[in-house]
Amino acid sequence: MASRLSGLIERLVEATATPYPVDRYLEFVDPMLTWRETKGKVLDVQRRTDRTVTLRLEPTRQWKEHEAGQYVEVSTVIDGVRHRRFFSPANAANATGTIELTVTAHDDGFVSKHLRDNVKVGDVLGLGTPAGDFTLPVERPAHTVLVSGGSGITPVISMLRTLIAEGHTDPITFVHYARNADDVAYANELTTVAHAYDNVDVQLHYTRPSAGEEGGHFRPEHLDVLATSAGAQVFLCGPASLMDEVRTFMEARGLSDRLHSEAFTIDTSPVIDPNQPITGTVTYTKSETENENDGRTILEQAEAAGLNPEYGCRMGICFSCTAVRKSGCTRNILTGELDSETDQPIQICVNAPVGDVDMDL
Ligand SMILES: Cc1cc2nc3c(=O)[nH]c(=O)nc-3n(C[C@H](O)[C@H](O)[C@H](O)COP(=O)(O)OP(=O)(O)OC[C@H]3O[C@@H](n4cnc5c(N)ncnc54)[C@H](O)[C@@H]3O)c2cc1C
Ligand code: FES
Repeated sequence: MASRLSGLIERLVEATATPYPVDRYLEFVDPMLTWRETKGKVLDVQRRTDRTVTLRLEPTRQWKEHEAGQYVEVSTVIDGVRHRRFFSPANAANATGTIELTVTAHDDGFVSKHLRDNVKVGDVLGLGTPAGDFTLPVERPAHTVLVSGGSGITPVISMLRTLIAEGHTDPITFVHYARNADDVAYANELTTVAHAYDNVDVQLHYTRPSAGEEGGHFRPEHLDVLATSAGAQVFLCGPASLMDEVRTFMEARGLSDRLHSEAFTIDTSPVIDPNQPITGTVTYTKSETENENDGRTILEQAEAAGLNPEYGCRMGICFSCTAVRKSGCTRNILTGELDSETDQPIQICVNAPVGDVDMDL
């Protein structure tokens, strides 16, 4: 009853506040005063490595607590334009009422570099609802093996922190690949945890070691524990090369059913099929531009043609990139499905043209 009444009040207020949603008016008073939207105020900023920024955010009342391993949409306004990207909270689930994000700046990354360089205490970021099924099972594994590379540390450090906060005493193996020791935003914490908890084993491997450090990409012996631990479950997040190697390793040992993984990017390289050559022209009607189809996703081809379509995840989860395919056929690179219905909204980050395609872009 109470929620129906509040829903009715919300609709009445929205109706009287047109033409803009209530939140647009409230943010003039205070950016953290919101009716529907979830926002987070930056309470703390730490630049622990050259490439990262770790933010602690205080969310507004609408925030729904994340499960360890999930991700959340984060939005920020840069030069008057709102940009959306996804980040995995690194704090333990149900922890402190605040959210911790660690953003690794990509060399040519627009939003990640902006956040690394410019965010300051008091800034307000937009937040979505936590989502994703890369999570720990309700019945915790007999042996939890957390494997990460680079920025992929965030969902698994959330899992590690969650298990520790729960007083979990079964074995946990934490294997992390970083460029070198100075590139691990959680280095101090991992060292402390490894000393403080007998059940936690931490291995750090450096792929571009500094002088005196031992180097190493993934090698099977890094996961030797799997040979002796029948109940081990592996949770993996990192760059494509690491994910491929660990996946191949698990498959070769018949352990694929024990592998749970999350990628921050997907492989968008064109499918080369000699029976179906890449042909056609991609036309962007609104921009009066076109290019020869090169088989990549419409988002990548549009960017190469000088357009600036909106996007968020670049992997088919957020719909920010949706645009109308006026005519032609496209292939969904995740499912392989072909679709040629006219005037259909499609996610251009995961659709590649098959022949001539006309986009409302
Ligand atoms: C589910 C999910 C969770 C994520 N969690 C985190 C997290 O906790 N911490 C974190 O730092 N990042 C995380 N990311 C990645 C993050 O959302 C952005 O993709 C990343 O910060 C790059 O954004 P950008 O605007 O800087 O780069 P853009 O300007 O969008 O891209 C610049 C270039 O980098 C390429 N690129 C974009 N994203 C990636 C990527 N992830 N890996 C490699 N190349 C890329 C683009 O193709 C482009 O060529 C996550 C992504 C997803 C989908
Ligand atoms: S950018 Fe997220 S679905 Fe395309």
